[in-house]
Amino acid sequence: MLENITISPKGGLSGTIHIPGDKSISHRSVMFAALASTPVVIKNFLYAEDCLSTVSCMRALGAKIEKDASNNLHVLGNGLHGLQEPPNIMDAGNSGTTLRLLSGILVGQPFFSVLTGDASLRSRPMARVVTPLTKMGGKISGRQDTRYIPMAIMPSEKIEGIEYNMPMASAQVKSAILLATLFASSPSIVTEPYISRDHTELMLETFGVKIKRQGTSVGVSPIADLQAPAEIDVPGDISSAAFWLVGASIIPNSHLTLKNVGINPTRTGILDILRQMGANITIENERFSGAEPVADLVVKSAELKGVTIEGPIIPRLIDEIPVLAVAALFANGQTTIRDAEELRVKETDRLKAVASELGKMGAIITETKDGLTINGRQKLQFAKCCSYHDHRMAMSLAIAGAASNGVEINQPDCANISYPNFFTTLDTIRA
Ligand code: S3P
Repeated sequence: MLENITISPKGGLSGTIHIPGDKSISHRSVMFAALASTPVVIKNFLYAEDCLSTVSCMRALGAKIEKDASNNLHVLGNGLHGLQEPPNIMDAGNSGTTLRLLSGILVGQPFFSVLTGDASLRSRPMARVVTPLTKMGGKISGRQDTRYIPMAIMPSEKIEGIEYNMPMASAQVKSAILLATLFASSPSIVTEPYISRDHTELMLETFGVKIKRQGTSVGVSPIADLQAPAEIDVPGDISSAAFWLVGASIIPNSHLTLKNVGINPTRTGILDILRQMGANITIENERFSGAEPVADLVVKSAELKGVTIEGPIIPRLIDEIPVLAVAALFANGQTTIRDAEELRVKETDRLKAVASELGKMGAIITETKDGLTINGRQKLQFAKCCSYHDHRMAMSLAIAGAASNGVEINQPDCANISYPNFFTTLDTIRA
């Protein structure tokens, strides 16, 4: 394990990067394939710690999952009603998506299971999934009045569909309810304040499930079995591409081509905001990978200006806010981020972490209740910064350091949670 990494300033970013598989889609591909009864080959699966947590949980539930010599993941499940009682506690590691989506699947099972995770996940709120799943008839019991994991999920007599207004936009909560409904006795309709990522809906449709959408509502009905596609090709993760989109925009003399990036409209808030800031990004070779739109992105350095980021766009770029804060430091004028209180319950409190760590580099950033105010055109100095073991913090700090006077990041290995080759890629494109 690496204690620290030092990123020195070196000049522009140039070359071509094949963006690793989308984390959200990789989780769903292996979970849903494990609920089917025919074999599924997953291409471009993200072999990062979070998705490997999902693989180990689905194996514990009885699915056969093997990686081949070409890095394809082969999954063979036992059908929608074929999961088996896991012989031990299941560990979701650092992964909120694994934990919350699995909770939805597990409430509908005729067996006992227990879920836990690492220190970060053990401090993240679970009531958001426990409340609707319990209303559906699920029997869940966890630490501190079932607000935190570890939590145990007991077999329940009956799971019923629900009409549920979610208090926050969250794809994890929405997905947990949709998945529980597959095992229920009646349909569900879930309504969000704003639309969150819709990978669950798109992939369930690929597995033969009918999804009804209206405005910010999604409806699904129980089903006897899934009809799996023979193959799933996972698009590159726009949340991983985001570090290069920002890096190449703010570091002079940069020119990068990012290959095979997912451009699902529920995820492209980063493109909209960077373009609004004046970034030079072109979208080429638009195509589909299954139900998911993908493209190649070309990004060149540009002069950026500050913007306001708030409202319905927030769920469309929620994971990119730390690196957008870095972009804002190099822009002309002020950037204001509002309505982003969800960042307080991510892998770490990202509003606090961004303000404190970029602050150590000399940035003037004001942390507000639900966002950040960032002055542009700031002179940053070398500093020793903390990743808080948060992958997106570590990578955002690396971009800030590469664009200024360098940075030392502690616990940089946490990048492996979503982007195992991040630091070697950074070296390659600066060579
Ligand atoms: C995710 C949903 C989002 C996102 C997370 C992945 C998913 O979380 O921040 O990184 O795969 O469904 P919330 O559902 O908590 O908003």
